[in-house]
Amino acid sequence: MRLIFLGPPGSGKGTLAARVVDILKVPHISTGAIFRAAIAADTFLGHRVKAIIDAGHLVNDSITIRLVKERLAQADTQKGYILDGFPRTMPQAEALAEFSTVDKVVDLNLPDPLVLERLSGRRVCRNCGVNYHRVFNPPKKADTCDVCGGEVYTRDDDREGAIRKRIEVYREQTAPLIGYYREKGLLVDVDARPAVDQVVENFRKAVGV
Ligand code: AP5
Repeated sequence: MRLIFLGPPGSGKGTLAARVVDILKVPHISTGAIFRAAIAADTFLGHRVKAIIDAGHLVNDSITIRLVKERLAQADTQKGYILDGFPRTMPQAEALAEFSTVDKVVDLNLPDPLVLERLSGRRVCRNCGVNYHRVFNPPKKADTCDVCGGEVYTRDDDREGAIRKRIEVYREQTAPLIGYYREKGLLVDVDARPAVDQVVENFRKAVGV
């Protein structure tokens, strides 16, 4: 099954995808995670995108489209994939339609006050990328990942100014994709407000898996 996870920043796309990969046995492809890995590894791509991401802006379409096209050409995507955070602009959606078909687009619905609450409390493992939240899902030992023992930190783009910019960019450039995919009959809505287990159930019902 080929899925796109749409939804505002902090709506829980990454958290849900981490659960759904076990259900569907398909790879989770997060463009944000690919960019963060490039930054951590100090690559040429990482240098190009760090300041853009930290400020809450989008990386340019041609870089992002090329990266996803190359990733979807890899063998592990033959049975499907979860695309988390791509497409995010109309040109990205139109490019994707040229190199892959999609079965469903899952739109995670979360109101702005909850978006702010989730992003401002998010903590992430620097080593394995597992997500935590200061209030809703703290690591058992302060600042230490339960899974790998890595350092748990606050993402540079989870500071107040960058969060506001990301929400603005989402409204202007990504929200129009909801109508685009709804018209194609691909969109399913998932209520992202409840606790994670319930969101997984909402997803299963909406998608029929
Ligand atoms: P990206 O990493 O994709 O950021 P995002 O879309 O803003 O999404 P987030 O990762 O912030 O949130 P999420 O929806 O995955 O929520 P999460 O599960 O973490 O992209 C980062 C940047 O890269 C972009 O700003 C851009 O610069 C660049 N980029 C990426 N893709 C691009 C593209 N296609 N084009 C151009 N540029 C691109 O959850 C958030 C918090 O809430 C966590 O603390 C979690 O523990 C908690 N939580 C989750 N679910 C629940 C729940 N049900 N109840 C309580 N807490 C919950």
